[in-house]
Amino acid sequence: MKICSKIAGIGKCIPTKRVTNDDLAKFLNTSDEWIKQRTGIEQRYWVENNESTSDLALVAANEALKKAGLAATDLEMIIFATLSPDHFFPGTACFLQAKLGVPGIAALDVRQQCTGFLYGLSIADLYIRQGIYKNVLVVGAEVHSKGLDKTDRGRDVTVLFGDGAGAVVLSRTEVNNAEKDAHIYSTHLHADGTYAKELWVQSPGMANGPELITLGEVQEGLQYPQMNGRMVFTHAVRSMCDVINEGLKYNNLKIEDVDFFAFHQANMRINEKVAQLLNIPAEKVFNTIQKYGNTTAATIPIGLTDAVQEHKLKPGMLVASAAFGSGFTWASSIFRY
Ligand code: UT7
Repeated sequence: MKICSKIAGIGKCIPTKRVTNDDLAKFLNTSDEWIKQRTGIEQRYWVENNESTSDLALVAANEALKKAGLAATDLEMIIFATLSPDHFFPGTACFLQAKLGVPGIAALDVRQQCTGFLYGLSIADLYIRQGIYKNVLVVGAEVHSKGLDKTDRGRDVTVLFGDGAGAVVLSRTEVNNAEKDAHIYSTHLHADGTYAKELWVQSPGMANGPELITLGEVQEGLQYPQMNGRMVFTHAVRSMCDVINEGLKYNNLKIEDVDFFAFHQANMRINEKVAQLLNIPAEKVFNTIQKYGNTTAATIPIGLTDAVQEHKLKPGMLVASAAFGSGFTWASSIFRY
């Protein structure tokens, strides 16, 4: 018998405002054809003006708790992965904790962008395996729509991102039969900060000059994400292949042993290329980018929630999840659902 962690409940929150590619083409020099062909994205969802990242997270968290059969008061820690926090500080985990009404428990923000959820999962898993906590909430939530450049200057990035939240409750479990019992096998985390400026938001920031942000920087659009798309694409394909292989090798598993691949959703072509290079049959890869765009840290838990709802991900299945994003950061997790 081994003490491990397992996914006890999952949930998501998708805002109600649907934004199609044609909607974007009303104010950006872009087209449904270009976006679909280059990325696979057909639509995304944006929040209303008064909705925040922690608002979306709260809905996803409550659904995950309900599925786990737990109350918020059963949680001992909240890990919140986001690149679009409610405020510059304090961390969004604190805002969510207040909304959940559970003062006193640990609240931690993770700033690892598209890889944030897997970084969070890894931290939660270790706290549980060490016997410190029994139930940890891991949330990935993003409000991109308020921080995108809605002029042609930013069209390469603006068409890619959507808002949303996903959450899992990770709980302590006793594993007697690793080939049957739900549990996290391992997580593998990486980063290479030499590429930090290939996908980043420069301002506001303390590294720029005398002020947090200047009017000149705002006029230049430095508060919006800047991306070297081709470089990100190439690194994403290579790193996701490497980190999936690393996770499988660590557990003495082969690609064929995996029932379900939960990849981050940045570009359908990235996932198709990864599947092709690793010899993964297309039906084992669950994609949601068509519906939601790239929701960064929220992507993987949103995908898991949909896959369970659509009966594609079933109890007992072996899952390999991988993500790549700004930092550069990349990670994988192998788990049995
Ligand atoms: O989560 C991690 C974050 N992001 C990623 O993983 C993204 C990785 N990169 C990508 O997905 C792709 O590089 C993009 C989808 C961003 C771009 O696709 P691409 O095939 O690499 O296109 P490109 O940047 O080389 O641009 C091709 C053309 C350019 O025009 P010219 O120079 O050939 O005349 C762009 O100006 O497409 C133009 N373009 C657009 N056209 C219509 C760029 N953005 C748009 C747009 N609509 N939104």
